[in-house]
Amino acid sequence: MFLRIAIILQTVALFAAPITAGLLLSSPHGRALHSVSAYGVFTVGLVHVAAAILAWRPGGGSPRPILYAAGFFGLTLAQIALGIAQVKTVHVPLGVLLFGMSVLQLSLVRAKRGTAARRR
Ligand code: HEM
Repeated sequence: MFLRIAIILQTVALFAAPITAGLLLSSPHGRALHSVSAYGVFTVGLVHVAAAILAWRPGGGSPRPILYAAGFFGLTLAQIALGIAQVKTVHVPLGVLLFGMSVLQLSLVRAKRGTAARRR
């Protein structure tokens, strides 16, 4: 359940990133807002890793989500570095990819939950 909440928060934070990126390009306070949204994605990414570890031990689930969460967090760090370095040609598509991956992760945990509920 915590894992699902963490992935929902992560997806919402990643949905906000391109919105604040648009503000960054069009308004004077946009840069600060995009930075805040980047911190949001970073924080929620860490929460996602913690939730995946807790779902494994003591939760008794599979360790696989830890791999997904850690890989995702690694890409988030790369995204932040690319944003600071202003490498827009990679930064913008990676942002879109991160959002797509997050939606995919969310649909996977929802599907697993549905299967577990049907088995009960
Ligand atoms: C589709 C989503 C995104 C788009 C379209 C986007 C776009 C941009 C653009 C246009 C810039 C300005 C680069 C420049 O000044 O030349 C930027 C900067 C930046 N972005 Fe993003 N971004 C996205 C997602 C993200 C995400 C998910 C993160 C963090 C996880 C992030 C972190 C940053 C950072 C740290 C900067 C540097 C801000 C600064 O210099 O103050 N971006 N982004």
